[in-house]
Amino acid sequence: MLLIVIIQISLFPKTASTPREAFDITKRYGAALLKLHSYDSESVLYMAREFMGPSLLALHKPKYIGSEDNVVGREESNIIVPHHCDSIGEYKSYVNDSVYVEEAPDYIILCGNNPDSYGSGETFLADLRVAMDRIPHYYKRHLYDMNIVNNGKLERLVISNPKNSDHTCHRINQGIMSSFSKNSTIDLIYNTEVLPKWKYDSKSSYIQPSPYSKCPLKDMNAVEEYINSIAYVSSTSHRFLLTPGMCVTIDNFRITHGREPFSDLTRSLWQVWLWSNESINIPSNAGEGRAWA
Ligand SMILES: [Fe+2]
Repeated sequence: MLLIVIIQISLFPKTASTPREAFDITKRYGAALLKLHSYDSESVLYMAREFMGPSLLALHKPKYIGSEDNVVGREESNIIVPHHCDSIGEYKSYVNDSVYVEEAPDYIILCGNNPDSYGSGETFLADLRVAMDRIPHYYKRHLYDMNIVNNGKLERLVISNPKNSDHTCHRINQGIMSSFSKNSTIDLIYNTEVLPKWKYDSKSSYIQPSPYSKCPLKDMNAVEEYINSIAYVSSTSHRFLLTPGMCVTIDNFRITHGREPFSDLTRSLWQVWLWSNESINIPSNAGEGRAWA
């Protein structure tokens, strides 16, 4: 039994031989690897269109991601990227406790361009479905459509998807995953020997209950369970390098991505955001520093 589990983890993400196969694998398992022989912006864009085929509603031109884009996890000479789902969707309003603008791309593609010259900065993924299944059902149910305040904004961590009830939209940002601990975030997230712990502190915590919540303590207990479970899943997740032309295709509603520490400032990759016919909403504009393809 244990052996089967280990094999399954080590095969995640599976490798595809064509973009269409990568899409099928990603729909099923949450992510896939695909190797490109040429990996300039045009080749990556071409592959991205092939990847989603007729399900595609909108996509961005590949965005060049260099070290300056990863400021959140910058510590001394190391750059870390706490795991997260990509999003430009901002929750706009406290009005009536309503939450709007679920515009996260449901699929993203990352392609290695220039790797870290020391071979560091491995990418890792965490399956949020697995993280959800590890927590008590009582909290799991509560997380659906429960509002929280995250860094001053009203948000949700988990959103039902009206287009497909199996394709739940999870919204985990780097800030949330950095809020385990003020002192030793890196240890807690990256050291697999240490079980990560996010403890709610009503004064200093990045995450707070919604001011409209009827059960704020239960809300924070649910968040605590969920975040600690995500950190555990990520700590056991397979690490892989995005070498030049190596792409990972990701179901961004289901899977977080993050990067181990690296220090080479010339490290870069291509990022493509895609909205399929199962995405919740397409944003009205491409967002800062981004363009529609
Ligand atoms: Fe990202």
